[in-house]
Amino acid sequence: MANKSHVFIKRFGIGRIVEHQANALVFTLLVITGLSQRFHEYKASHWIIKTIGGVDTLRVVHRASGIIFALLIVVHIAVGIYGIMKKRWPAAMMVNVNDFLNAMENMRYYFGITNHPALCDRYDYKQKFEYWGVIAGGFLMISTGLVLWFPVNVARFLPGEVIPAAKAAHSNEALLAFLVIVTWHIYNSIFSPEVFPLDTAIFTGKISRERMVHEHPLELARIENVPVEEIVKHHHTHPIDPGSNQGGEA
Ligand code: HEM
Repeated sequence: MANKSHVFIKRFGIGRIVEHQANALVFTLLVITGLSQRFHEYKASHWIIKTIGGVDTLRVVHRASGIIFALLIVVHIAVGIYGIMKKRWPAAMMVNVNDFLNAMENMRYYFGITNHPALCDRYDYKQKFEYWGVIAGGFLMISTGLVLWFPVNVARFLPGEVIPAAKAAHSNEALLAFLVIVTWHIYNSIFSPEVFPLDTAIFTGKISRERMVHEHPLELARIENVPVEEIVKHHHTHPIDPGSNQGGEA
């Protein structure tokens, strides 16, 4: 068999790549222009507000980025529904019972009870959790952002308490989303030993076959049209097995 250690597999098309970069950019803008309002007494916020041209400009930039953020989500959902219904894309992000079983399987693996990690498909349970978190958080930010933008119109048909509640939710979810991205997402895509110094998949659209074996063996088995046992047979190791030279890769 040919050496497959440097083989790369296509993972994302140009649409997904552009979408990710657009989201990263718009989210960064929203965090900078939003959190500098929340923490307006900080020196760093003063600097941001001054550099951008004052608080009025900052608020315009925040709302304009908010509109683009909302459009990106709407387009994403429309494209997803169209792809699944008309082009027969597999609904790979849907949560199913295997995700819960895989999470438990990995717990057993991390405690050294089994000798192999869970066999995941195109997206593992951690990726699905993050994805649905972004969608749910996105809806919350858009709806509460609109309440803050049009408080008078909202108060015409909803009780006035909705406005300070929306502000609390918007402000705190912003901090939560920011912290999740800088800890969880940046860790997984930059500092995790499996990808360090950078997971380039979302820039090049390609992933190494080696990583597919570890992280998405079920999808790889489908692509190569072989049983999954064939894919993982040389990769079942104990994470702390002293006789293994692959422990760190698990
Ligand atoms: C995930 C993205 C977003 C983040 C991280 C974010 C963050 C924030 C933060 C931290 C504040 C300050 C709250 C405070 O003073 O305590 C704020 C205010 C505000 N946000 Fe957002 N936001 C986001 C999305 C949106 C969206 C989508 C919209 C509009 C549809 C929006 C509209 C507003 C408005 C109107 C305000 C009040 C300040 C102003 O009048 O400009 N935000 N945002």
